[in-house]
Amino acid sequence: MINEKRHADARTSAITIKRILKVNHAGEFGAIRIYTAQIFVARRLFPEIVADLEKMRDDEIDHCRLFLQAMPVRNARPCRVMTFWSVGGYVLGLLTALCGRNMVWICTEAVESTVHRHLEDQLTFLIHRDPELHTLIKSIQDQELAHLREAENQREKGQAHSLFLPLISGLTNLMIWLSTWGDSSWMRAEIARSNAA
Ligand SMILES: [Fe+2]
Ligand SMILES: [Fe+2]
Repeated sequence: MINEKRHADARTSAITIKRILKVNHAGEFGAIRIYTAQIFVARRLFPEIVADLEKMRDDEIDHCRLFLQAMPVRNARPCRVMTFWSVGGYVLGLLTALCGRNMVWICTEAVESTVHRHLEDQLTFLIHRDPELHTLIKSIQDQELAHLREAENQREKGQAHSLFLPLISGLTNLMIWLSTWGDSSWMRAEIARSNAA
């Protein structure tokens, strides 16, 4: 009986770990597309922040590659709707950049803080279940936090901030949810259940 339960738990964990990789890899790809669109606009309208954006985009390229590399050994596969992330990310990046420099940083703050919350949950889940992936995500989380701090330093608080921060955070969560056909809700619930156990 105990053995059966243990096997069932291991199976559920393996599924959750695959989903973590899938959603993280897709999210990193979306982030690359957001920064790519913002760099395109920033080069023309506010070139002084291009170097910062390029640095963050390069980090996201690295993260995307690292999550992809971690997949085969865990039998995980990339998300089937990467086009969705490509277009969604690019449109979000383009629209925010066209609204100006401050909106670029508000977008970064919203996306990075949403990512941070997801990574926090994942880290608690993975610490004893997949220490290797835990270490990888921890090192990535440090860089995401640096992106978040940069955005918090650069953006100005005001009406735009209070209006668009929750809106873009909501959109980011919606993209994660849609791209995983709702799996992200299941995954979060599963992570919360396991973390509470
Ligand atoms: Fe990233
Ligand atoms: Fe980031």
